[in-house]
Amino acid sequence: MATRIILDVDTGTDDAVALMTAALSPDLDLVGATTVNGNTGIDSTTENTLRVFEWIGMPRVPVHRGMSRPMARSQMQQLNPASRIHGDLLDLPPSTITAQPGHAVDWLIDTLLASDGDITLVPVGPLTNIAMAIVKEPAILAKIPEIVLMGGAHDHGNSTASAEFNIWLDPEAARIVVSCGRPIRMVPLDATHRALVSAEDASRLRALGTPAGEAAARFVLQRIDGYDATQPMPHRLGAAPVHDALAVCAVIDPTVLTTEFIPVDVETGGELSVGRTVCDFRFRSRQPANVHFATDADEPKFNRMLREILGRTA
Ligand code: BDR
Ligand code: CA
Repeated sequence: MATRIILDVDTGTDDAVALMTAALSPDLDLVGATTVNGNTGIDSTTENTLRVFEWIGMPRVPVHRGMSRPMARSQMQQLNPASRIHGDLLDLPPSTITAQPGHAVDWLIDTLLASDGDITLVPVGPLTNIAMAIVKEPAILAKIPEIVLMGGAHDHGNSTASAEFNIWLDPEAARIVVSCGRPIRMVPLDATHRALVSAEDASRLRALGTPAGEAAARFVLQRIDGYDATQPMPHRLGAAPVHDALAVCAVIDPTVLTTEFIPVDVETGGELSVGRTVCDFRFRSRQPANVHFATDADEPKFNRMLREILGRTA
């Protein structure tokens, strides 16, 4: 039976690949997408999400517009060095469809409360919507079987030396989510940088001849261009991470990741380290493990999954 998921996105080139993977996978039932401020402002992340669904011929997947700024901080996204990797609006035709009425946070609460406790949350942007929903209606927690999120970093950051972008942009929200008491699988840079998509892989995606394959190839090439120019992968020009799609693939097939079950917390006060995911691999904090933290990923399997799924049509 297909796993029911809600994908929370700040679309974004890699969010776009994640959306197409989630919508087209026969192993997933995409209940809807919620949008959040992140890679760009909420108007553009919402428009980009609508563009993606329309492009792949799935305009009826409900899209709900969410939080336009972090929970407790002023907007920090202007500092994001990765903007060249995404741009503002995706290179797809403007949407002719609209987001659903109402706020994403309220839709998340209503949908989870009405569910049988079988909807996995897959946030791949800053965690503002998910944290707001938890704070506004804690009763949703009992209805969440698992949160599989893209975010965090142990070995190296990307927004700062120590912090990954999704956590760094809204650290207070991230702290609420990782300490919420529900099962959490975290897909950090430590894993996404181990499963790169190369220009040759992009050619294979384009050769699939589907709208999803063509768009994924376009976004991967844009990402490679941006990464090579601003934060090249060590010893690996011509390849880039497609972070958010790896989180979706991990819901479909958990073996695409290697994980360790450890205590993880989020730094919200540090002058140099705000947004750092503090990973206690040696259990020095004496806190219980709360996160299945991915330390590695299977690059060939990830690329195979992308080709298999993005070769499909609606
Ligand atoms: C994360 O930040 C965003 O730029 C990407 O979409 C991804 O979710 C990677 O740090
Ligand atoms: Ca994202």
